[in-house]
Formats: sequence, C-alpha cells, structure tokens
Amino acid sequence: MEMQTTRSVTLSLIERPRRLRRTEAIRRMVRETRLSVDQLVAPLFVVEGHGVRQEVPSMPGQYRLSIDELVREVRELHALGIPAVALFPALDESLKTPDGREALNPDGLYPRAIRAVKEAVPELLVITDVALDPYSSDGHDGIVRDGRILNDETVEILARMAVVQAQAGADIVAPSDMMDGRVGAIRQALDEAGFTEVAILSYTAKYASAFYGPFRDALDSAPRHRPGVPPDKTTYQMDPANAREALRELRLDLEEGADMVMVKPALPYLDVIYRVKQASDVPVAAYHVSGEYAMLKAAALNGWLDEKAAVLEALTAICRAGADVILTYFAKQVAQWLQK
Ligand code: PBG
Repeated sequence: MEMQTTRSVTLSLIERPRRLRRTEAIRRMVRETRLSVDQLVAPLFVVEGHGVRQEVPSMPGQYRLSIDELVREVRELHALGIPAVALFPALDESLKTPDGREALNPDGLYPRAIRAVKEAVPELLVITDVALDPYSSDGHDGIVRDGRILNDETVEILARMAVVQAQAGADIVAPSDMMDGRVGAIRQALDEAGFTEVAILSYTAKYASAFYGPFRDALDSAPRHRPGVPPDKTTYQMDPANAREALRELRLDLEEGADMVMVKPALPYLDVIYRVKQASDVPVAAYHVSGEYAMLKAAALNGWLDEKAAVLEALTAICRAGADVILTYFAKQVAQWLQK
C-alpha cells in the first residue's frame, strides 16, 4: 500500500517564522547582522629585503612581505576600502636577544615599515603590535629570567616600544603580551611623549591558544625548547576554560585607559566576545587568528568546504556575537567578495 505524503493540511499556527525567510529580498530586509568592509583589519607580516613575497607554509595565501611589497599590498587593501592594517615583523634570528632590545631600535625593520605605509597611504590606519616575541631569542612576549616571565620589567620595555612605534607613525598601538598593568604604563608613556592622540587597542582577553601555531611559523616566534625557558605562554595568556576572568581583564584595561578591547581567538570564544560586548562601553575587536584561517583554508583547498560561504558565515558569526571590528587574514578576500 502506498503512503500519500503530500495530503493537503493546514496547521493552525499563528506564528510562522518561515514567512520572513521566503525570498532573498525579505531575508535581506530583516537581516540582523551585516558584515562590512568597514570592520575589517588585515594583519600583515613584514620582512627585511626587496621584492620578497614569501608564502607562510601553514597559511596558504599569506606572505611575509618586504617593505616595498608591503606598500604595494596596503595600497590594494586601501583601494578595497579596508580601513586598517595590523603589522607584525618577522625578524632575522641574529637580531633576537633575551631582552628583545631590537624592539626599541627607531631604525629597525618595524619602524621603517610603519613609516613606509603611512607615507604611501596616510589615511590607512596602522595598528602596531606591542609585545616582545618577535624580538625575543626565547620566543616569549616578555623577558625570561630563571624560568619565569618578568612582568614589571617587561612592561617598562613595552611602554618605550609603544613610543617608538608612535614616533614612526602608528595610529593605534595594540599590546598583545598580556602583562599586568601594561595598558596604563603605555598610556602614560605615550602621553608623556606627546602622543595623546595615539589610541590603545588592548588584547584584553587573549587566551593561551593552540590556534596561534601558524602565526608563530610566520614569525618563527614560538617559545624555544631550552632549559630555563617556559615551553608555553600559560603564565600570562588566559586559560581557555575561563570566561568570567575576561571581565576582570576588561575592567582593568578600561580603568587603565584602553580605547578598544579585543578577544582572541574569535570563533572558539564567541561567548567571551558576547560577554565582553555586554560589559564594555568601548568598541570590541575580535582576532580571527592564524589557526582559524589555516583550518578554513586547508579544508577549502581540499574541496571539503565552500570557502566563500564558510568564511562569510564564520565572520558573520563573530559580528553577531558582538565584535565591532575583526582582524582576519581573510580581510582582502572578503573585501573583494563584498564588492560584488
Ligand atoms: C604574540 C602574538 C601572537 C599572535 C598575535 N600576537 C601569538 C602568540 O601569542 O603566541 C597570534 C595571531 C595569530 O595567531 O594570528 N604577541
């Protein structure tokens, strides 16, 4: 006997949510979250040299760029409407020391890169990274002594480092180190040096995450496996199990003068983005980190995911959770998709 499956029935439903999903026009009209190029920040890696465009093996489509190539890249990003770039230096091993002193060299690779970008495209915002790991021969964000990361000594260097970056033209300095008290110290140092208009984007809730692996490949900045050097960053970056603690970091950063706050990574921490957004009266950024990029990219390159659909969904979800700004290695690609 054959079952009739399309018998005409009418449920007496008052609410039918599907009415608002019926056509693209209606879905577009009632959409709650809109991803825009205005929110996107492109992280970029800079290296010494000329004409260098070195692909990062664990980040297909991302490159270590020499300053001339960097300038070419930022012109394109600016033309696409991207408002800001976040720069990270990949330094030669010979310049790395336990105290990371190259971070204070006003003629080093990083200040030269900042100057070149600001000269080429003055309207493009330059967000600089304040942390010692690109300069540390131990591969840590702070100074290592007797197997420990020194907090206060590190903060003193970070504050001076922020001033060097401001002198080079940084619009926004972004401490990514997670030392206690660094936002206040950086604010004070910037103000004393006359940079009252340089903003601070604090990495407020930065977790000790496995998703930073490809970034550490790009900068060759992973903690060194050596006696006396902590093998990971768990004594300063946050425990992935903690969400309430993010609100404590938020309170401190706001008290110390952070202009914007950031949660990092993004997708595995949407609840943290949401909580921070509810509790904060400053813009909230989220860092869609290297490992998140690598996962999507690897799946897309294998034909396992539709790259455009998956990336737009991921970034929309980060927005929906509460991010006003997203740092993502997909920034350029998304800006192109959003144009069409
Ligand atoms: C270090 C820093 C890291 C990232 C940005 N700044 C890595 C780390 O803390 O080890 C990660 C960014 C990414 O994974 O894309 N100060």
